[in-house]
Amino acid sequence: MNARSGLEFAEPTIFERGTPGRSGFKVPECEDGKVAIPAHLLRKTEPEFPETSELEVVRHFTRISRMNFGIDVGMYPLGSCTMKYNPRVCEDAAALEGFTGLHPLLPQDKIQGALALMAELEDALAELSGMPAISLAPAAGAHGELTGMMVIRKALEARGYARKKVLIPDTAHGTNPASCALVGYKVVSVKSTEDGMLDPAAVAAAMDDDVAGIMITNPNTLGLFEEHVAEVTKIVHEGGGLVYGDGANFNAIMGKYRPADLGLDVIHFNLHKTFSTPHGGGGPGAGPIGVVEELEPFLPVPRVLRNGDGTFALSVDFPNSIGRIRTFAGQFLVLVRALTYIRALGGAGLAKAAEMAVLNANYVRARLADTYHVAYPGTCMHEVVFSDKLQSKNGVQTMDIAKRLMDYGFHPPTVYFPLIVKGAMMVEPTETEDKATLDKFVEVMENIAKEAIDNPDILHSAPNLTSVSRPDEVLAARKPVLTQMQADQQDAE
Ligand SMILES: Cc1ncc(COP(=O)(O)O)c(C=O)c1O
Repeated sequence: MNARSGLEFAEPTIFERGTPGRSGFKVPECEDGKVAIPAHLLRKTEPEFPETSELEVVRHFTRISRMNFGIDVGMYPLGSCTMKYNPRVCEDAAALEGFTGLHPLLPQDKIQGALALMAELEDALAELSGMPAISLAPAAGAHGELTGMMVIRKALEARGYARKKVLIPDTAHGTNPASCALVGYKVVSVKSTEDGMLDPAAVAAAMDDDVAGIMITNPNTLGLFEEHVAEVTKIVHEGGGLVYGDGANFNAIMGKYRPADLGLDVIHFNLHKTFSTPHGGGGPGAGPIGVVEELEPFLPVPRVLRNGDGTFALSVDFPNSIGRIRTFAGQFLVLVRALTYIRALGGAGLAKAAEMAVLNANYVRARLADTYHVAYPGTCMHEVVFSDKLQSKNGVQTMDIAKRLMDYGFHPPTVYFPLIVKGAMMVEPTETEDKATLDKFVEVMENIAKEAIDNPDILHSAPNLTSVSRPDEVLAARKPVLTQMQADQQDAE
């Protein structure tokens, strides 16, 4: 089926387009005459490239780009992912030749500007989190978690005890238990209270001499501000453990409060979410961690040193470090975007962005509260969790609502997460959507709720207007088909 015309024909792939001999480019003549390529490296057969004109190539790639959905196309309220608009000034900075042309093995006197940028970003993140030491090395939030838990393990060993378990609230993101397991810790799930809060009594009951610490996400994945962090932190510290802060939801709190002030020992930032890098589909990202003084010696190497005379150095000379956690110093161009964003907004601007993110989520919550079941009523932070409780009476589930949103030009919210909410729909509008867009989203959600009563079939078959309708999502994630050759192979099987 052709998505644009609705007629029964498929668009040809780039491999099916073209004609032998047709070409859209000319390779420049080799200036130095012939280059001697060793015989064993020479091709024996011609490569099987599509022979296409420039127009065919342009149409092919433009067509497939239009099958995609991105924040530049419409609102992307994917909860827990902070899919906000990425200001173009950040892209401009990251595209500067002085940054893109850097090679990680350049001598240190040639990368002073890059090191100065990294030092300044470290200082900004230290100020925002209250953590005295920062490592920019981790390449994503989950990688930050892994790094942070490795640091915790090493710090406890330095105190003279190894422990085996980590406490994790039942609302946590799946990467939290996964990171603990990778470090070799056994995960103990802690049940939240009826109102979605981390329960100090449950933490106290689970705390024993084998608990290395706890991972806390604040605001949590229900979009709620954890009210008992200071109390929980005290319990864990008194039991000899350390406290990890999952800072993926930092967008709600930046410039408003500093996690270190509640007693956290480690925190990671998702630079790609909070500090604006286009992300999704696996990258790119950066997940720096901040730590308290006791944990600083264990941070990964290399680390940026301030020489005191205005120059900088990258050093691996930290004998107690957990070592390298990636090949070079960090996901550099994401760091450039983050510092540009922080500089562009300034302290007051960041705080205002956090306020607007919370206001927008509460606006959507309040406007839809009579139409959709709100899992945890009351004020939320940057995201709100609805469920399909009201619509499921008519046989309409969360997945149907999410898919129908695509027909109206909106990306679906996060679905079926957090796991403790049946039929969860987690909406994170972010601060970058204006009131008119939020109103449109609300109107569409209300329409869908009406359709759930009057015409549920249209929801069951949704999305009806996209080029792919309802793929087997588990199979697509486990065995992605990313190239035409893989697709051809699959067709042949
Ligand atoms: C609460 C929370 N923690 C951790 C992560 C992991 O971050 P990343 O996707 O950068 O690995 C996410 C990602 O969605 C998250 O929402």
